[in-house]
Amino acid sequence: MNKLINEQNFILKGNILYSKTPTELSVTDQGFLVCCDGLSQGVFPVIPENYTHLPVIDCKDHLIIPGMTDLHLHAPQYPFRAIGMDMELLEWLETHTFPEESRYADENYARHAYAIFAKDLKLSTTTRAVAFATIHPQATALLMDELETTGLKTLVGKVNMDQNCSDIIREPSAKTSLYVTVKWLESIAGKYKNTKPILTPRFAPTCSAALLEGLGKLQKEYQLPVQSHLSENLSEIAWVKELFPWSLFYGDVYDHFGLFGNEAPTIMAHCVHCPEEEIARMKNNHVYIAHCPQSNINLASGIAPVRRYLEESIPVGLGTDIAGGANLSMFRCIADAIGMSKLYWRLIDQEKKPLTMEEGFYLATAGGGSFFGKVGSFAPGFEMDALILDDKNIRTSRNLSTKERLERYLYLAEEGGKIVEKYVAGKKIF
Ligand code: GUN
Ligand code: FE
Repeated sequence: MNKLINEQNFILKGNILYSKTPTELSVTDQGFLVCCDGLSQGVFPVIPENYTHLPVIDCKDHLIIPGMTDLHLHAPQYPFRAIGMDMELLEWLETHTFPEESRYADENYARHAYAIFAKDLKLSTTTRAVAFATIHPQATALLMDELETTGLKTLVGKVNMDQNCSDIIREPSAKTSLYVTVKWLESIAGKYKNTKPILTPRFAPTCSAALLEGLGKLQKEYQLPVQSHLSENLSEIAWVKELFPWSLFYGDVYDHFGLFGNEAPTIMAHCVHCPEEEIARMKNNHVYIAHCPQSNINLASGIAPVRRYLEESIPVGLGTDIAGGANLSMFRCIADAIGMSKLYWRLIDQEKKPLTMEEGFYLATAGGGSFFGKVGSFAPGFEMDALILDDKNIRTSRNLSTKERLERYLYLAEEGGKIVEKYVAGKKIF
């Protein structure tokens, strides 16, 4: 193979781990991860003949793992994360969330807040993210500008909401909401390499039928992916039934308007209390679930049946749901997902075994990454997103295997762990 040597053709040497399957971890001590044109060529115990001309970056005794995908977060909620964690969803939205989001009408505030968010996200465990912005098109474009400079790959949505929320954050009509969305799409068309738009009806209660219908048409016209919230909280679900009495279940509302999988690649956040018909529809329509365990704890929403979703082969990834979840760290998110699955097993259904460490790691890497294509693995052909981890300051008197080092890093990242380098599609971003 006669590949040109450039910044995206190189080899990383170190202790390399990635998910081969949801249950199987590939571990290669002092192995070689070959990257050509931003794509992994695979992991090898010795450098294959045809790659010996490539430069080798020696990561010494560090761990090398795939980058992580945060499949659901709210960028404008970053300023108040970890504040007001004593309410359930609907009260929390009115009390904390909508007042904060209304501030993004002010572009100076938005610029300042989003610069902080983008900088922190760049330094975090995340290499790909799917984010809600607010209803404001200018502020949403500012967020996209900020994220573009990080080198991370992201999908960003201007939020649509035209009913059942405080005036400060409500768009005046379905027509205006759709018009502003088109203007936003036109204003950012072709502008970015790493940052793309996603249609974002906030959730069924704050979207009129006319708005959802219009968004369904926009989805087809612009071929955009879709994100929203689904079956997070019991009061929310009852409210959707009141607002859309014809619907068979909550997700049926989105599906009715062409915003629930099939042709429209779709992420639904939470899915804590889905009835059987809803699960069957998600499976049939290939809807992605963003499991947000810490948010489910903080907003006392419940425990999502992740094992069930894995058994059904419904695509699942993890989300921080900032600021429902307080922490940006996907390591923390994995540990929370594993912990919550244990509570589900102990308290709700003993048939649904807790997630293993391998499964938690899979969800955060290849599971959520697959929404972006071949992402989240080092198997040949995958985009080379990688984190280089230094764990020497998470001290222990024991000699640990490489797998044990990763396992405890998931839980103890904040107690001495350090991300020393980060790559996205073969490009070093720090
Ligand atoms: N449902 C509608 N909006 C939101 C939000 O901002 N956060 C969460 N967790 N759920 C929602
Ligand atoms: Fe959310």
